[in-house]
Amino acid sequence: MCQNNKYKNLKWDIWNSIWRNDDYLQIKQGPIPFPVIDRRVSLRYYKKPDLMDFSLSEEHLMIRQAARDFAQNELLPGVIERDEAQKFPSAQIKKLGELGFMGMMVGPKYNGSGMDTLSYVIAMEELSKIDASASVVVSVNNSLVCWGLEAFGNEEQKNKYLTQLATGAVIGAFCLSEPEAGSDATSQKTTALDKGDHYVINGTKNWITNGNSASVYLVMAQTHKEKGHKGINALIVEKGMAGFEIGPKENKLGIRGSDTHSLIFNDVKVPKENRIGEDGFGFKFAMKTLAGGRIGIAAQALGIAAGAYELALKYSRERKAFGTEIKNHQAIAFKLADMHTQIEAARHLVYKAAWEKDQGLNYDLSGAMAKLYASQVAMDTTVEAVQIHGGNGYVKDYHVERLMRDAKITQIYEGTSEIQKIVISRSILND
Ligand code: CAA
Repeated sequence: MCQNNKYKNLKWDIWNSIWRNDDYLQIKQGPIPFPVIDRRVSLRYYKKPDLMDFSLSEEHLMIRQAARDFAQNELLPGVIERDEAQKFPSAQIKKLGELGFMGMMVGPKYNGSGMDTLSYVIAMEELSKIDASASVVVSVNNSLVCWGLEAFGNEEQKNKYLTQLATGAVIGAFCLSEPEAGSDATSQKTTALDKGDHYVINGTKNWITNGNSASVYLVMAQTHKEKGHKGINALIVEKGMAGFEIGPKENKLGIRGSDTHSLIFNDVKVPKENRIGEDGFGFKFAMKTLAGGRIGIAAQALGIAAGAYELALKYSRERKAFGTEIKNHQAIAFKLADMHTQIEAARHLVYKAAWEKDQGLNYDLSGAMAKLYASQVAMDTTVEAVQIHGGNGYVKDYHVERLMRDAKITQIYEGTSEIQKIVISRSILND
């Protein structure tokens, strides 16, 4: 981190122009004496160093408490049974909507809570400690559907759909993945043929979160095959449109309370006014929206890790072996030390990515790093939490085996860990 006064004296508006206009090159060549610094990430540490502050505001602390209380009182009861029966948490999602958790970042004009991204990740962390099946519903609705519509939809679309989605009155789904287009998202096979005043969609989408519980679906489909990803459109599809079928529910390893389905489109007629953005904007829409979605999933991973750690810590204080509580054995204490350290590091990455988004900075890199790291921490921490619980960890009553199963998906959806490494490496190598 730079302590050089020369950089501290640079005016804030210059830094603002670097970050808001993404015009780093101009600054490099400008009149201010400035050493050549190759990586944009290095610059972050020069920005307002005196403002580094790790404390949360009163409002953020209240949101944390509200989400924590909700998770304890409303999500914990029945979480094991819902997981086992693959039961969607309908009643809980309805209440989350009433409390404003389904459209946290949406402006009040569209019935949202008007909060920042940091509030959203704090809530995601707390909900995910207890029930990742419920938190993924919250995440997809907030960051993929509501955020995407508010950022790129037109006024009519926002009034018609966002106002409903933001209150949780209806739930949304984000439909990009296909049987042959998962990580390779540009290879969309689903087509949306342009028929003048409407599109006709044909194809199949796979692994769609909220597949059956949703009423509003943001569907990416290819209109101009010859243009590759520049020919893809994002269309708003409503449940019940003729030719739109919900496929069978997936029987999953984890997040079993959430409903994941394939979707089948047979000549589904969608009016042109349901297209988001200009013709061919669909792939950019998906990428920009997913960049923020990844911060939400990183927060989910953080919450799963923290939930497993808290259970392991409690258990280590209660369970006795060899005449003492197991926390007094260094083998257990060291595991807890590693878990605590990794969770804190993950939290810093997640909160920083959220902060960057709130500042209007580019968060592609920080979001990808947060998701990559937090999902690995979720995996490692939950495995260790099961180990600390021993035989009890392997049975359902102690919750940690569920958290371990839930953790795995955070390394897969909204971009696998390998995709995050593509995003990160391209970002640092191209800077
Ligand atoms: N913001 C804006 N534009 C972006 C972008 C971003 N973050 N990332 C890429 N783009 C643009 C590029 O600039 C490029 O546009 P131009 O040609 O105009 O320059 C275009 O998108 C194509 O980009 P690439 O050439 O980099 O494309 P690629 O084929 O090499 O792949 C990828 C890029 C990052 C690997 C991308 O395909 C990707 O993210 N794949 C993973 C998809 C994914 O995350 N799927 C998750 C499914 S959704 C889900 O899981 C939801 C759920 O239900 C929980």
